[in-house]
Amino acid sequence: MVDVTVHDSAEAAAIDVAESIRDHVASCVANATACRLGLATGGTPLPVYRHLIEMVTAGKMSFHDVVTFNLDEYIGLTSSHPHSYHAYMRSHLFDAVGLDASRTHLPLGSADDPDAEAARYESTLIASGGVTMQLLGIGRNGHIGFNEPGSEHDSVTRVVDLADSTIAANARYFDDPANVPRQAITMGIGTILRSHEIILMATGASKADAIRGAIRGPVEPSNPASSLQTHAHVRWVLDTEAASKL
Ligand code: GLP
Repeated sequence: MVDVTVHDSAEAAAIDVAESIRDHVASCVANATACRLGLATGGTPLPVYRHLIEMVTAGKMSFHDVVTFNLDEYIGLTSSHPHSYHAYMRSHLFDAVGLDASRTHLPLGSADDPDAEAARYESTLIASGGVTMQLLGIGRNGHIGFNEPGSEHDSVTRVVDLADSTIAANARYFDDPANVPRQAITMGIGTILRSHEIILMATGASKADAIRGAIRGPVEPSNPASSLQTHAHVRWVLDTEAASKL
């Protein structure tokens, strides 16, 4: 059975996701098991990170025992570049909750050999024991991480070319559209599917077609998020607009 929660607003969806992450971290601490969060970027998780910071500030949770692995990073941007996902994570979560670089992992987009960097990232993730809870957004074309349509469902961390529609969607973050990176290093779909639990969050009408395809569509490489139908512990947290075509 598909585990879908539909909220009246994006804000309510974000609170639900933040509380799920808080509860996951608490259960890791209570059971003395390692907590390895898989984290996403983009606009969708921003209110989730805001709520997590509020919980930490209020003393309701701590990231002291948490290790993080991000899904992806642009190729060609250094970790200090303001539009890198390294910078995004530092400014929207890591710095405010006291997650220092030794406990956070992202692929290095400025590596001399991106293919070797992708292989290193996959190995580091496997050696860690794997992601215990993965947060995902979804692209309008159904991509997860930067696994664009056509990505095999057993793919691992690798260098990928971004779809034109993804480059166009991400151009809003860059001063000049010509500066939007064309490639990224991303966890593969197979990498993502090894996570013990997955929460996919989607908000807004622009995600309605992608959500319908992911949940109701056939499981095939043309639709990367449809791969999640093969995972036993996926929770879909949506607002009414993203859920409007289910
Ligand atoms: C980027 C990220 C994805 C994210 C997607 C949607 O392409 N690599 O991880 O899910 O954008 O972003 P947004 O939440 O801004 O719609």
